[in-house]
Amino acid sequence: MRKKIVAGNWKMNKTMEEALILASEVANMVKDEVSTDVTVVIASPSLYLSTLQKYAEPIANLSIAAQNCHQKASGAFTGEISAPMLKSIGVEYVILGHSERRQYFAETNEQLAEKVNIALENGLTPIFCCGESLEQREAGGFLEFVASQLTDSLFHLSAEDFAKVVIAYEPIWAIGTGVTASSAQAQEMHAYLRGHLATKYGQEIADNASILYGGSCNEKNAPELFACADIDGGLIGGASLKSREFTNIAKSY
Ligand code: 13P
Repeated sequence: MRKKIVAGNWKMNKTMEEALILASEVANMVKDEVSTDVTVVIASPSLYLSTLQKYAEPIANLSIAAQNCHQKASGAFTGEISAPMLKSIGVEYVILGHSERRQYFAETNEQLAEKVNIALENGLTPIFCCGESLEQREAGGFLEFVASQLTDSLFHLSAEDFAKVVIAYEPIWAIGTGVTASSAQAQEMHAYLRGHLATKYGQEIADNASILYGGSCNEKNAPELFACADIDGGLIGGASLKSREFTNIAKSY
């Protein structure tokens, strides 16, 4: 049975004081209301992770995540944060390849393959993001394009390592736009990606891979999206900044 995951990507939002309030509210709600079958992940700005770990630690199904890490373990990379650093403060997950990092920080599939490697070497679970732009969707070939992002950044992994990776499909046109992929559009992509994984790693590993949907997911549309056969949870942006709405999304299962 594959893992159900609802992860909140706070992006570059919240002051320390606000982060403490949001994380403590989420922790209390997760403890009291969310089934332990669902793993809830908070990806706050890295600056707060060490402090927020206190809230996550006592709750079995609550974890913290970084939103990025550098591809090298250490060195002269001013301003960057490494996978060993994240591991040393108890971080369990790291989002890699978010479209905003690809777009604004020019991250490439090749660089992301290195980031995936260093994350796994340090015992972090990558939440690997993929997704097409509106132009790509309209031009056609978008299923193959997204599959190629997985091929280029993940398919060098052994089956054992690949089995540790979580995938998040986030159509760029649905991120922060209020336009969600329909459940049919999301399910089509998720099923296609699972088939693509099966061609490389076999059906069993593909069936066990968690593939999350992200892009204007909220408490209203989550139940329909999460009911799709190949959607195993969500990567939530704007709606993760409100504790009640984020928890309600996690409760959609
Ligand atoms: P929104 O939920 O704000 O569309 O953001 C999705 C996202 O980018 C999560 O990583």
